[in-house]
Amino acid sequence: MADLGTYLMGLRLKNPIIVGASGLTSLPDGVEKAAHSGAGAVVLKSLFEEQILAVLGEEMAGLDIDSYPDAEAFLSRTAWEESTDEYLKLIDESKRRVDNVPIIASINCVGPGNWAGFAKRIEEAGADALELNIAYVPFSPHISGHEIEQKVHSTVKEARLATKLPIMVKLGNNYSSLPNLVHGLSKEGANAAVLFNRFFRFDFNLSTMRLSGVQPLSSETEYHESLRWTAILYKRAGLELVSSTGIHSADAAVKCLLAGASAVEVCSIIYQKGWKAIGSILEEMDSLVESLGYSSLDGLQGKLSAINAEKPEEYLRLQYIKALTGIY
Ligand SMILES: Cc1cc2nc3c(=O)[nH]c(=O)nc-3n(C[C@H](O)[C@H](O)[C@H](O)COP(=O)(O)O)c2cc1C
Repeated sequence: MADLGTYLMGLRLKNPIIVGASGLTSLPDGVEKAAHSGAGAVVLKSLFEEQILAVLGEEMAGLDIDSYPDAEAFLSRTAWEESTDEYLKLIDESKRRVDNVPIIASINCVGPGNWAGFAKRIEEAGADALELNIAYVPFSPHISGHEIEQKVHSTVKEARLATKLPIMVKLGNNYSSLPNLVHGLSKEGANAAVLFNRFFRFDFNLSTMRLSGVQPLSSETEYHESLRWTAILYKRAGLELVSSTGIHSADAAVKCLLAGASAVEVCSIIYQKGWKAIGSILEEMDSLVESLGYSSLDGLQGKLSAINAEKPEEYLRLQYIKALTGIY
């Protein structure tokens, strides 16, 4: 048996499979199931920053909520104060029920604000770490990319002032200079970056001429952007990396570790296959790691990162399809 243990932000994980934030981890029962299924760590469902909650409430009223498993939960959330109390109870109860599996709280925010002080209460409730899911859609043509990046950095700075917990920042992949952004996160005190969140997508319903939700789960072909940026940023950005989106198999997980991830987050595959998916991935991962000639993840991590590559320029090719596929 290979030793799949890993360290993330100073926390010992018995394996690198983290259950990502979602409705699956919104209740202590889900957290317990994740732990019993073998997860190395669990990220709780995000607590949404007040404004986001309000906006979502309005926007989602026009959506077909069946196509978005969590929509109902968003809509039925009561006031911010009540949800925060509930959230602290979720942390406390999860910690009581689960041993040796780090519990990571998650806040979904668009920028710095009063909510940052809440990070301290999350720490007091017993969470092992905090994930900041920073998701901002620039709607105005007057906001520059630099301003947005400053917002992201200030958000981390405020959270860092409020708590000593390890902080990981979950990002989207649509920034102009991800290495610069992520390096700035480390300077503000973040310990890890999660690459990437997969945002809610909308469609148009041509019968109702309104917005509709799209099937929210990823497919197994979606891990490549995460793989690219994990490989490029490994040992370059001053913090640890967690790959996320489209990781549905041991193959994809091991590739992300080879790129330089300390761990990976999984979500859609559990919605699709149930909690047993974690056990299957771990079993296959064990044989895969051994078949690659490793007895632990130590030598494997970052082996295929850009910094360890003979030709790092290959990681920068965006359009040179023929080189890797033969198709032109
Ligand atoms: C139904 C659903 C709810 C989600 N809720 C959250 C959330 O509260 N906070 C968050 O950071 N990500 C949330 N996500 C995103 C997942 O944590 C994950 O980043 C994304 O689904 C990509 O990973 P995957 O390809 O393994 O699904 C949600 C995803 C789904 C499908």
